[in-house]
Amino acid sequence: MPALPSAVGNAGRYTTVAMILHWIVALGILALLGIGLIMKHGGLPPQRMFQLFQLHKSIGITVLFAVILRLIWRLTHAAPALPATMPRIERKTAHAGHIALYALMLGLPLLGWGVVSASAFSIPTVLFGEIPWPDLPVLPNMDHKDVAEGILTALHKYGAWLMIALLAAHIGAVLRHRFVLHDGVAGRMIFLPRFSKTPHSPSVRKA
Ligand code: HEM
Repeated sequence: MPALPSAVGNAGRYTTVAMILHWIVALGILALLGIGLIMKHGGLPPQRMFQLFQLHKSIGITVLFAVILRLIWRLTHAAPALPATMPRIERKTAHAGHIALYALMLGLPLLGWGVVSASAFSIPTVLFGEIPWPDLPVLPNMDHKDVAEGILTALHKYGAWLMIALLAAHIGAVLRHRFVLHDGVAGRMIFLPRFSKTPHSPSVRKA
């Protein structure tokens, strides 16, 4: 099989495209978690709640597209190699964590879209107040769509909590690489040149 083009930048980092997609998705997901929890549990007046639901749906569909682009990029570009000193078990755990994150990044927006499509209220989705967005097929016309809506809502909600747990582990791992191991892994997804100068960076190795 021909080797994938490398996603490594010139200092053992991800490329600019990979970084841009990573940070669009990361910021989008943080916003969605915050907005989702406030709109559901914030006790807001109905009009404000409606606005937040529309904003949540708009950012959620945008994130879905960014995640699809990111997946395509990731599947066609190899990630920079991990340090040779990293134990096998840690590599496997990191790999499994990344797969779980991708599954949730893709699954949560689709589940949310499913909730809206099966909703008894049939409230139209208009992205950012401008773009009318269709429901998913089949769900709006199902006989017992209230059952489907209940199941999808529960999966979306518990999936969001699982996402929070995985994000906490992901950020914890990044901080460990940055402040305990000092192995350069944490800087590979960061634009700042100083943060990214690592023992893996060719410029540092020469020094
Ligand atoms: C990565 C993407 C997403 C994340 C992280 C996310 C997160 C959340 C969270 C944290 C909640 C509150 C759950 C609760 O405690 O009850 C929520 C609720 C909701 N989300 Fe999302 N969401 C995402 C994508 C979407 C999308 C794309 C849509 C629709 C197009 C959507 C529609 C909804 C709806 C309708 C609810 C309320 C469900 C209910 O009535 O309980 N979400 N979301």
